[in-house]
Amino acid sequence: MHCPALPEGFDFTDPDVYQSRVPLPEFARLRQTAPVWWNAQPHGIAGFDDDGYWVVTRHQDVKEVSTRPEVFSANVNTSIIRFNQGISRDQIEVQKLIMLNMDPPEHTRVRQIVQRGFTPRAVRALEGALRRRAGQIVEEARHKGSGDFVTDVACELPLQAIAELIGIPQEDRARIFDWSNKMIAYDDPELAITEEVGANAAMELISYAMNLAAARKECPAQDIVSRLVAAEHDGNLGSDEFGFFVLLLAVAGNETTRNAITHGMHAFLTHPDQWELYKRERPASAAEEIVRWATPVVSFQRTATQDTELGGARIKKGQRVGIFYSSANHDPSVFDRPEVFDITRDPNPHLGFGGGGPHFCLGKSLAVLEINLIFNALADAVPGISLAGDPRRLRSAWLNGVKELQVHYR
Ligand code: HEM
Repeated sequence: MHCPALPEGFDFTDPDVYQSRVPLPEFARLRQTAPVWWNAQPHGIAGFDDDGYWVVTRHQDVKEVSTRPEVFSANVNTSIIRFNQGISRDQIEVQKLIMLNMDPPEHTRVRQIVQRGFTPRAVRALEGALRRRAGQIVEEARHKGSGDFVTDVACELPLQAIAELIGIPQEDRARIFDWSNKMIAYDDPELAITEEVGANAAMELISYAMNLAAARKECPAQDIVSRLVAAEHDGNLGSDEFGFFVLLLAVAGNETTRNAITHGMHAFLTHPDQWELYKRERPASAAEEIVRWATPVVSFQRTATQDTELGGARIKKGQRVGIFYSSANHDPSVFDRPEVFDITRDPNPHLGFGGGGPHFCLGKSLAVLEINLIFNALADAVPGISLAGDPRRLRSAWLNGVKELQVHYR
């Protein structure tokens, strides 16, 4: 079915349509004319009936899909809508070992265990070490006088946070960071990271994490690995489950936070009044607005487990449903002047961390802490920052990413 609000053949899974046009103006047109719209696109994988996917653009509908796991299952690859973007049936099966692609009751069991590592107390315990590291990162960048904000500032803290949280020994961190960086963003040809390199890095990371789990089972320490796998707790993760959990953290907690920080910097540099306000008042609402504004994860997907109705559309069992956070976060029926970057926005019911269902971002408080620590360190130590060129975007339909942002420090 062609939608009159969109150009013929328009495809929301095509990375090229996102170049410098985020949020897409097409989302606004769909929200008004066809908020749940069937985008017919061939996918070519046997066993899935329909060649296409639903595009869900309104805030209320994205929330509804997220909070009804019995109707909208996460069990079939949540991150790629169109299977012909390089995914096989075998890969779909392996992905079911990652909690993001599990449904209740299995998801509930794993989530209850891993939540032990993300309590407010556990996150607070990381604050001192991460604050010191954020201060050093900013000091080193300022000392250079100018450079790429992504590599100099935004990259490292998210990786350090995951390493601190898990309790990865210092001497292993460089290897972990290297594997993590190789696994992400493989659809950008400029990064020259092939799928094979990404897959090998993932295998190495999983096997490293499984070995760490086995060692801590044998000889527990004061870290999250020991708490999640130690034998004396009820309901533990097996070493293999722990391996896949670390893999998920390295993807879910790494580039998302890196891009929130980078987009936040770009937003402050292009809205100097907001940066002045931040430096003066440090409003607690700023990090949430940065995530709404950036929406690092453009969309996730679900599969309908039964025929159902959503926003006036009739969805059939087995059809793919794309929920577009990027659109929901600019829905004018929920956000007053959504196109304005306003760090005092409150309330701010954005869906950048998910639509409030069982998969809601496990690392939200850690991400908010990291964003605050970086911008506080910049506000404390750098008298002036300015843009030294346009940001270079990552080629991706799934991540709203920036791979380079040149800045000057004074
Ligand atoms: C899930 C966004 C940072 C760990 C998610 C989801 C989104 C998201 C949209 C899916 C929600 C759903 O399906 O309902 C973000 C953003 C971040 C961020 C925008 C940074 C600004 C982090 C960090 C960690 C993390 C720092 C951990 C170190 C996870 C995990 C899940 C998840 C484990 C899966 C939860 C589950 O399946 O139950 N995140 N995330 N995230 N996130 Fe984050």
